[in-house]
Amino acid sequence: MQTITLSSNDQMPMLGLGTWKSEPKALLIEAIHQAVDIGYRHFDCAAIYQNEPVVGEAFQPLLRDQMVKREDLWMTSKLWNSYHAPEMVEIGLSQTLNALQMDYLDLYLMHWPVAMQSDLGLKRPKRATDFVSLTDMPLETTWEAMLKLQDTGRVKNIGVSNFSIRNLEQLKAAGLPMPAVLQIECHPYLTQVALKSYCDEHNIAITAYSPLGSQDRPVHFKAQDEPLVLENPVIHAVASGLGATPAQVILAWLRQRGIITIPKSTHAGRLAENFQSLNVQLSDEHIQQINALNQNFRYVDGKVYDFPSSPYNSVDIWK
Ligand code: A2P
Repeated sequence: MQTITLSSNDQMPMLGLGTWKSEPKALLIEAIHQAVDIGYRHFDCAAIYQNEPVVGEAFQPLLRDQMVKREDLWMTSKLWNSYHAPEMVEIGLSQTLNALQMDYLDLYLMHWPVAMQSDLGLKRPKRATDFVSLTDMPLETTWEAMLKLQDTGRVKNIGVSNFSIRNLEQLKAAGLPMPAVLQIECHPYLTQVALKSYCDEHNIAITAYSPLGSQDRPVHFKAQDEPLVLENPVIHAVASGLGATPAQVILAWLRQRGIITIPKSTHAGRLAENFQSLNVQLSDEHIQQINALNQNFRYVDGKVYDFPSSPYNSVDIWK
């Protein structure tokens, strides 16, 4: 498995299994067992996905029977928005580690540059008063608490997700160490060229979420008539020329740009298909053709944060 060297010198596998929307329980357990069998070693989780206990349950027999060793796995998880208060950060980590039944994470990310009231726990926002503004709970304050987690040995690397260049610059201006990893939406309709070059300059690795366009998102997360990246004719033409599938072409394009990716599947055939993208090689011309498909389109648009009088909204959040 190809890896990216992080600022800590740790080697992060370039392909992982996404677990957002992976349900029901039996299907996720089966998918993790199949994924390990196929060769996946990187698993991307988050507390808000509400399935970390299932991920933990899936790994228990594999670790116990030494089908895979913990040190050969790369486990990522994410701090939910209602855990941004410094005293909540370690609580969030402990809850995730308990759910996963593991002693440490390889990577822990701040899930969003959005703070919510601590008493909400693992819930999504429902009203403007669920939020705490970044004036009252600055990103730097949460980031400093994340940095302290590394001293406990329970987190090997820390990073952020859904941050913009402006958010990253804020951490830098505060004189704090930069994240090891930025996880963002990235696919041929959202190529993220500016963020990628900013991250290259600052030695921040990028992980792409929703690389295949996340068509299994709940209906309330979907825009009407959204473009389907897996159906794009250019991707199909490249795929048929190479004897590969459209998903493999997108995953290879990300990998060849030096971007880690975490396609989600709960089906054995597609788990294997996505893994085999590691053997697909695009030409420079293919890469340029796919780069040109950018339309700055977001499948995960941040509209869940749009409430009248909320300190956040789906436009400013990406600025
Ligand atoms: P399934 O889980 O039934 O395989 P993303 O990773 O962008 O969030 O996309 C996940 C969605 O894409 C899921 O609906 C998943 O379905 C589907 N998917 C995963 N791999 C492939 C593939 N190789 N070809 C087509 N669809 C795929």
